Amino acid sequence: MVYLKSKASAPGKIILFGEHFVVYGVKAILCAINKRITVTAETVNERKISIQSNIGNLILSPNKSINEINSPLKPLYYLADKMLKTNQKFEGIKIKVKSDFPSGVGLGSSSACCVAGAAAISGLFIKKSLKEICDLAIEAEKTIFENTSGADCTVCTYGGIIEFDKKNGYLKIDSEPNFDLIITNSDQEHSTQSTVKKVKLFQKQNNDEFLELCKKESELIKEVLEILSSDKTIELGNKINQNQKFLEKIGVSNQKLRNMIELGKKFSYGSKITGAGEGGCIFSLVNESNLEQLVRIYKDNGYQSFPVEIDFKGLNTF
Ligand code: PMV
Repeated sequence: MVYLKSKASAPGKIILFGEHFVVYGVKAILCAINKRITVTAETVNERKISIQSNIGNLILSPNKSINEINSPLKPLYYLADKMLKTNQKFEGIKIKVKSDFPSGVGLGSSSACCVAGAAAISGLFIKKSLKEICDLAIEAEKTIFENTSGADCTVCTYGGIIEFDKKNGYLKIDSEPNFDLIITNSDQEHSTQSTVKKVKLFQKQNNDEFLELCKKESELIKEVLEILSSDKTIELGNKINQNQKFLEKIGVSNQKLRNMIELGKKFSYGSKITGAGEGGCIFSLVNESNLEQLVRIYKDNGYQSFPVEIDFKGLNTF
């Protein structure tokens, strides 16, 4: 039997503006970061799909009903099973996942894993276009998060800075920003699924207020798109703080995140949650004048805090 091996890596991401509102059709702005997930896939002569990762392992025979699987590694199983169904002369697939950033904290580990997984696993048998890989990754992510907007997988596939909305898809923003970004981890794992449900409840119970917030978020994003590539760091920071206020209103922040934002205020132009919230990470806008001081203040207070750069490569296949 022929032996096949394929490898791919995809970057994590930050949602700069528009998380949650993007689920309701508002535009969001995201960027890929220089922290990656690498997925290696190889065919094996055993009727098994095995997945090894730093968040656990999963070994199952192919052809299981996807709804019966209760594991965060389900999207990778889904991808492997789907590929085995269309390439029936192969028995099984062994998958290894290596990540250089924490999972479950809003940095896109699940999406990066779906994108790198879709490329590595399908790459065993066929070369797919970026769009096909992105679509496949979103399909896989839906096995754990049915209502995903698709924004995360899109930025993890294409890299750089993008604007995204559910109706029109993504548009690359062709600017080299002249600011720096710091990520700080609250060390509280969050569940995107349950936070998105919480927002749904908020929307149902406060429809007028929610509509008004969606409108304000849209206006904010329009203004951000106008200043993103300029030197207006202070203005951009104010927009970040404004976006955080909207996120506070829909109930996805908590006291720890507020304390973190307050702690870094002196050395940051603006800070907000990135991703679902209720834990996870915040990001802060800085430049060379305050970058080191901000990281130091967070580290001195026991937080994992690190600068990130924007990744312009996106998906990489080997
Ligand atoms: O999974 P996270 O923490 O990166 O958050 C996903 C972003 C949401 O807007 C909350 C959901 C979505 O599908 O866009």
